[in-house]
Amino acid sequence: NAASSGKVDYVFKVVLIGDSAVGKSQLLARFTRDEFSLDSKATIGVEFQTRTLVIDDKNIKAQIWDTAGQERYRAVTSAYYRGAVGAMLVYDMTKRESFDHIPRWLEELRAHADKNIVIILIGNKTDLEDQRSVPMEDAKEFAEKEELFFLETSALKSTNVENSFNTLLTEIF
Ligand code: GTP
Ligand code: MG
Repeated sequence: NAASSGKVDYVFKVVLIGDSAVGKSQLLARFTRDEFSLDSKATIGVEFQTRTLVIDDKNIKAQIWDTAGQERYRAVTSAYYRGAVGAMLVYDMTKRESFDHIPRWLEELRAHADKNIVIILIGNKTDLEDQRSVPMEDAKEFAEKEELFFLETSALKSTNVENSFNTLLTEIF
């Protein structure tokens, strides 16, 4: 069958965005290499990783781009979004500020990306539930209003990471 042939049927570009230190690079490391590091360094410029997965008997190569949340280290915006069919908008559920900045990231995304891009809102670091500062209901409500998918994840514990990327990629497909 197609999936076992090893040939790639589709390449999907997905971009990660959100404030610095919300865990974008660690979500990527968890999804593509099943790795996690607590002393992850801030991203400078752009990096990408790929992982091939099977959806409906097709080989889908997910090419996931990661850039800096910090303005001074960011990649050229238009190039970063070019050709992207999916986006993960990430905040840290223990940092209210990172959630309050989500509308700004969404605005940038909508200004530069294709209008049909599939977007998922991600509240990361659920392993720190005792430090939660963003109620799940607030995020859910925002996601519904803006027509985004929404999940809470933990890159550390591997919670919902697979599920998040699968939700996005299945919807794109
Ligand atoms: P920039 O590259 O600066 O934009 O940051 P980033 O969003 O890529 O953050 P990064 O992945 O580097 O993670 C920042 C810090 O949060 C690191 O110390 C990570 O180990 C930590 N971190 C990431 N995900 C989780 C998580 O799910 N739980 C916990 N407890 N820590 C996490
Ligand atoms: Mg990073």
